[in-house]
Amino acid sequence: TLLVLDFGSQTSHLIIRRLRALNVYAEMLPCTTKLRDLAWTPVGIILSGGPSSVYDQGAPHVDPAIFDLGVPILGICYGCQELAWRADAKNVAPGEAREYGHADVAVHKVGGSGHVDRLFDGLGDIMHVYMSHFDKLVRLPEGFVTVASTQNSEFAGIAHREKPVFGIQFHPELSHTPRGTELLKNFAVGICEARQHWVMSDFIKHEITRIRKLVGDKAQVIGAVSGGVDSTVAARLMQEAIGERFHAVLVDNGVMRLDECQQVQQTLQQHLGINLTIVDGSKLFLDRLKGVTEPEKKRSIIGGTFIDLFEEEAIRIEKVAENTPNAGKVEWFLQGTLYPDVIESLSFKGPSATIKTHHNVGGLPARMMNGEGLKLIEPLRELFKDEVREFGRQLGIHDDLVMRHPFPGPGIAIRIIGEVTPERVAIARKADHIFISMIKEAGIYNEMSQAYAGVDTSRAVGVMGDQRVYGYIIILRAVTSTDFMSAEPYEFEFGLMKKIARRIVNEVDGVSRVTYDVTSKPPGTIELE
Ligand code: XMP
Repeated sequence: TLLVLDFGSQTSHLIIRRLRALNVYAEMLPCTTKLRDLAWTPVGIILSGGPSSVYDQGAPHVDPAIFDLGVPILGICYGCQELAWRADAKNVAPGEAREYGHADVAVHKVGGSGHVDRLFDGLGDIMHVYMSHFDKLVRLPEGFVTVASTQNSEFAGIAHREKPVFGIQFHPELSHTPRGTELLKNFAVGICEARQHWVMSDFIKHEITRIRKLVGDKAQVIGAVSGGVDSTVAARLMQEAIGERFHAVLVDNGVMRLDECQQVQQTLQQHLGINLTIVDGSKLFLDRLKGVTEPEKKRSIIGGTFIDLFEEEAIRIEKVAENTPNAGKVEWFLQGTLYPDVIESLSFKGPSATIKTHHNVGGLPARMMNGEGLKLIEPLRELFKDEVREFGRQLGIHDDLVMRHPFPGPGIAIRIIGEVTPERVAIARKADHIFISMIKEAGIYNEMSQAYAGVDTSRAVGVMGDQRVYGYIIILRAVTSTDFMSAEPYEFEFGLMKKIARRIVNEVDGVSRVTYDVTSKPPGTIELE
């Protein structure tokens, strides 16, 4: 296993991804991790980039013990500056200008039989790279040689003469550095001799064994499912590992999409054989939402009601489950947390690092976790979204579900501006169903990251036949995004857009207009509320 120490760069997790693409297993930990707290010995260490300046007071630094381990070390950007700063604080200083964007790196062959040239092995004399830094190395640290340079950075790549320690100023993990993965391979496979044996099917087998060992042969597990990819994959895995001792609960909050509850039931129960209970809370949710127009209030009502119902069901399942022959207490709670969520809570947060806000309504009620409460099991915590999709496919989940757009916990309630009434829920559902079906028929569903039809508060006049109608305004939204922190409106072909609008107005009673939201995020958000 390779260790990546994270200094808070927004691209740190990409280092792990690139390594996994090489079938090399790596784990990322905060840069402040103490070596003595590590239960394993890494075959090599990568120091990531980060938003701080090494010479600032309070800047993050690694445990010096890593340099005594004797394993290869690669510093990227801030990580490289950290290496140089350790040798002598005067080695790093602010540059004259920020250097962002593409640069051509000249590779210098030092020669000899040592390790020095191995980082850039096979990459030619010039390498096209992506730079993003302000500080730079102003002197070559003692004991190092220059192995790469650019016009702006004399020391864009350095290597220690005797020890396998390297530093690079650019970012090999970005796709803007086209041959970056080859450089990472030179380090991980060539220099660290890491084994390339990480494959998804092994990972599944390994996870199933781990779950069985962790849970034992009696204890039971409970988990909420939503019909989304993450919770379905996690549930399928549990079912594979412990069968009927896993209990999935779907809470119908009255603001799911058209026929969604039945579809989830069909997929999870019939197709995947998961032990599923559906709690119909639709009336309770809609009652509690009556008259509420404030977005955050809607969220907290839905979140709170979810917890009430889930907890009630958990207690009921516990009572029944504990009377099953050969089965023990419900001891575990399953959560479909993914790696990016883990990184968010792990990552060193420098002053300018962005912090994503999490809004996970399906989270475990805190009061169930306290005292004698349930223990958390998170089998997907090492995976990225596209890996979860691959994982799902290998577990036999059909592609329709695996490729599904994310859907928010508060459902269409945050896509209906203003009050959530049964009438407006029905309108939003029908319009959304038409919109999504037409997107799928056009074969463009996978080109967008999220799409839905929402409803505005105001109404507009229209004419249908000879009749004047005064109806609701549908707001269509479709975006592309890589991380959902920023997004761009999807560029529909206009003819298709008009066909969609025509069908919605014709088929959904109470609708007089259809609009398309072309706002980017920021300043808009993906959801309407
Ligand atoms: P926004 O609207 O903030 O959405 O641009 C970004 C992503 O987060 C989802 N989202 C939510 N998911 N509970 C959730 O489970 C919420 O309260 C919530 N609000 C937004 C949204 O669908 C998009 O993918």
